[in-house]
Amino acid sequence: MDTLTGFHRTNYCGAFRQADAGKEISVCGWVQRQRNLGGLIFVDLRDRTGLLQLAFDDATDPAVFEKAAGLRSEYVIAATGTLREREAKTDKIPTGDVELYVSELRLLAQSETPPFEIVPDSQVNDMLRLKYRYLDLRRPDMQQAIALRHKITKIARDYFDENGFLEIETPMLTKSTPEGARDYLVPSRVHPGKFYALPQSPQQYKQLLMLSGFDRYMQIVRCFRDEDLRADRQPEFTQIDLEMSFVNEDDVMTIQEGFLQRVFREVLGIEIATPFQRLPWREAMDRFGSDKPDLRFGFELKDISDLVKDCGFKVFSAPVAEGGSVRLINVAGAADKLPRKQIDALVEFVKTYRAKGLAWAKLNPDGTASSSFQKFLTPEENEAILARADAKPGDLLLVVGDAKNEVVFAALGALRCECARRLGLLRKDDYQFLWVTEFPMFEYSEEEGRYVAMHHPFTAPMDEDIALLETDKARCRAKAYDIVLNGTELGGGSIRISVPETQEAMFRALGFTQEDAMERFGHLINAFKFGAPPHGGLAYGLDRLVMLMTGADSIRDVIAFPKVQNASEPMTNCPDVVDSKQLDDLSIAITRTEDSTSST
Ligand code: AMO
Repeated sequence: MDTLTGFHRTNYCGAFRQADAGKEISVCGWVQRQRNLGGLIFVDLRDRTGLLQLAFDDATDPAVFEKAAGLRSEYVIAATGTLREREAKTDKIPTGDVELYVSELRLLAQSETPPFEIVPDSQVNDMLRLKYRYLDLRRPDMQQAIALRHKITKIARDYFDENGFLEIETPMLTKSTPEGARDYLVPSRVHPGKFYALPQSPQQYKQLLMLSGFDRYMQIVRCFRDEDLRADRQPEFTQIDLEMSFVNEDDVMTIQEGFLQRVFREVLGIEIATPFQRLPWREAMDRFGSDKPDLRFGFELKDISDLVKDCGFKVFSAPVAEGGSVRLINVAGAADKLPRKQIDALVEFVKTYRAKGLAWAKLNPDGTASSSFQKFLTPEENEAILARADAKPGDLLLVVGDAKNEVVFAALGALRCECARRLGLLRKDDYQFLWVTEFPMFEYSEEEGRYVAMHHPFTAPMDEDIALLETDKARCRAKAYDIVLNGTELGGGSIRISVPETQEAMFRALGFTQEDAMERFGHLINAFKFGAPPHGGLAYGLDRLVMLMTGADSIRDVIAFPKVQNASEPMTNCPDVVDSKQLDDLSIAITRTEDSTSST
């Protein structure tokens, strides 16, 4: 094997153009492929910037030519020679006008045949990709995603620095607190039987930093949540975390709009308009069935409960009588694009959201209607529904009724997105931002049989709703806001409670006794007694932002070393067992293993 002694790279492979022809250059990288045409050998050399063709022919030094003949995919080499114009130019790669005619070739490392080819958009099975993630990351699309991620974090640091934010680190070994997702716990050796928790977010610390007078804080920080994985969820993920003192909701939102505008301008060259639209949570639910509506298309929900409450069709009248509702979406122009078979599939689709069924109506081009329910209703009732839906010839109406409004919203909210997907309306380069505001303070947890904080227990109620903390939790709204992009919750935050009495009322509302609250949050409660500035903030899911900006379908594709569905990492095979000495040190005894779980 050769060494790099005395070798100096001139530039990356992807940097060379026609104007560089004639120059003596040195490059290094991986062999993408080698083609031996007898008297002629071509090698595509790859580094993180792209490909450059290397050429060897009969006139080349025989030793160098022979070495080139032995090159295989993924060998690591360094080459020096003269850059020359290519005979057969190609516009498929940016360096397609030139090639390096090699006079010196160094072989730095050989490679076994990789388990998959290192090419863009590879169709390789995900598990294999992740088992050999270091090879998967060699693929140009992964390299670009990771580079783009770097660019976004750099802009975040620059932008927030320019706006007076200080980057401050907060601990990774923290106290476990209830509320929110399940914690990842870390056993303490020094304190047998006691545990740290990895932070779900630096929420309490960043609030304490406001109390310490830092005024504006930011951190690009790893967070840990032991929750089920989805395309936009990982057990460890990264937030761009922010907190500001002496601000109201408008101040926080304005600074964030400036940040997003800058990121999109500098990374994608896209100018996004500000201020973003704001929708109170109630309106978002009523119009889109979701607190993270995708605004790239219409199909808004319409309530038809008043039109069907007394009709003879039980499927419609019963849900209203039972306190729920019947609502529809008008999938405009979809009557002939979503034929019966597709509608049948949509029926199954809404059932996954616990809807009992899906009724439909089509307005034919001649103005007549056909529908799954028309024979059960009077002509007037049918007419009124079409009118409420603003139905035009060619439109398809989809109707869901349920005794539980949450089911109607969840089913129709998901259905409007599914229809848009089937109709090809989800353009990845169409960026529709909005703020969802005025979230409810609480949501009822069936599992816990009590109200829990919808955001977190430090979120301030809206000024006009403070009294409702004690009297009507269901109606109490919070000074909380989410930033939503194309149906994804990109970030969320709130103005915090800074008045000790309100914080106490909040803990009471959550059902904590004074002792519980002191035990869990005493540090924060005490801190607030020493002069707390009004403050608020927000955290972005960095992975989600990068996912949407690269057009990836999963945040896995924008994280160098992600976890798979069952929260394991196939490459290093973690989590894994540890030896008994380590467990003894931690005073831990294992009572159940994966094998015993799966056999039960
Ligand atoms: P929240 O819990 O809403 O707020 O989280 C903020 C943002 O983090 C992202 N996110 C995730 N991304 C990937 N995988 C996950 N498991 C995951 N969970 C959350 C989302 C989300 O919008 N401390 C508060 C913020 C604040 O109030 O300032 C918090 O963590 O994009």
